[in-house]
Amino acid sequence: MTEIIGVVGAGYVGATTAAGFAHLGYRVGVVDTDPRKVHGISTGHSGLAEPGLDEMIDAAVRAEMLTASEHYETLAEATIVFVCVPTPMRSDGAADLTFIDAAIGGLRPTLGPGNIVVLKSTVPVGTGDAVDEAVRDLGVHVVNNPEFLREGHTVRDFLNPDRVVVGGEAEPAGRVAALYRDVGAPTSCVDRCSAELAKYACNSFLALKLSFVDELASLAERIGADIDEVTDIMGRDSRIGREFLRPGPGWGGSCFPKDIRALASIAEAVGLPMRTVTAAIDANEAQSERIVDIVVDTVGVDGHVAVWGLTFKAGTADLRESPALKIVGALRKEGMRVSAHDPTVTDRFALSARLPVEFTPESARMPSFDILADPSSIVPGTDAIVVTTEWEVYRSVDWSAVAHRSPRAFVFDTRGVVDARAVRAAGLRFRRIGVAES
Ligand code: UGA
Repeated sequence: MTEIIGVVGAGYVGATTAAGFAHLGYRVGVVDTDPRKVHGISTGHSGLAEPGLDEMIDAAVRAEMLTASEHYETLAEATIVFVCVPTPMRSDGAADLTFIDAAIGGLRPTLGPGNIVVLKSTVPVGTGDAVDEAVRDLGVHVVNNPEFLREGHTVRDFLNPDRVVVGGEAEPAGRVAALYRDVGAPTSCVDRCSAELAKYACNSFLALKLSFVDELASLAERIGADIDEVTDIMGRDSRIGREFLRPGPGWGGSCFPKDIRALASIAEAVGLPMRTVTAAIDANEAQSERIVDIVVDTVGVDGHVAVWGLTFKAGTADLRESPALKIVGALRKEGMRVSAHDPTVTDRFALSARLPVEFTPESARMPSFDILADPSSIVPGTDAIVVTTEWEVYRSVDWSAVAHRSPRAFVFDTRGVVDARAVRAAGLRFRRIGVAES
């Protein structure tokens, strides 16, 4: 049978899933409640800085393999519908399923016997059962198919995944797994609960690995070791692996913080608290605080700090749960003057409009916050430069121009991207995360 695919939600995951399946030869319809996103997809623009995504959307729309609409009725012919809506974090750490409920409510009139609803959004264990309950009378199957798409790499990760995970009963799970046949990845067909838990397990384990490395970096600094040498040795052990061993100002983004808290909350709810998970959350809070303490201790609260990098990682315009924003907020709270550079931020008004909701207290004080057009145009007399995102541009800075403007600047590289020799050659003090200051 040739499946017809529906996708609800046109964010990173939905837009990539829709374009990806159209690219693999399926007819796909997308529904989103935001008319701008619908218009964007219909004209070949996702509105996302994802390499290759707009090209793939444009080609699919032109080939009439992909359409977008605000109306669920347009999915009436779909045999498999992927739900790709946000599951933000509630104040108690659990996942907010409002958008899932709205999607299922919207889809209900279009669903019929033999159709499959696929939960691709990250959902707490048991959500599949609840959705199953809500659509069972229609003869609809519910399957979980977690996504492993990194922002900035979603197209590559969709077309070349490490694995495909499908959770549900054998027949519908087999139909969903078959959609991915041409990507040629190992496929795990498991029960729904295992698929739901596996998604949280993957993100939480990576976060935990990073928190270990962040703490190890502090220890290395204190006792005179070099974290890069240590993680290189660790990474050569195939049981540990080379990825996710770079220390930083703490992990962030729209996924790790919410997913690890959701896992903690799932475990708590059944009376089995996961101490490793809560320790990683605590360690991550402490990581950005430690960066702030180092800056304050080094230059004093009267100092002027330039923060380089505002997004939660390089290669994305996403500011959600960015450790850099936490650091900016904390430095300003100390009373310090802060300016910032980020390749995706042109001016402070554009920044204010993009600030995530969790940044509200700081955004209120944004007017006195300077945005730098390029990193070396720092304000004369800047006392400290803190590199908080690993953008390429920070690898090749004109350090003599920086030193000319701010000869006393202390440079603190929390991402390990700065050319230490060039900084020192310009006569500036330098410190890299995970290495004792020499
Ligand atoms: C993450 C996962 O990597 C994806 O597999 C998953 O599908 C996605 O969440 C999701 O659940 O939707 P993403 O949030 O785009 O993807 O970010 P990552 O590239 O995983 O980075 C997460 C954080 O770890 C960032 O703050 C990054 O700066 C930090 N990081 C990563 C380090 O500090 N060091 C490293 O070596 C690697």
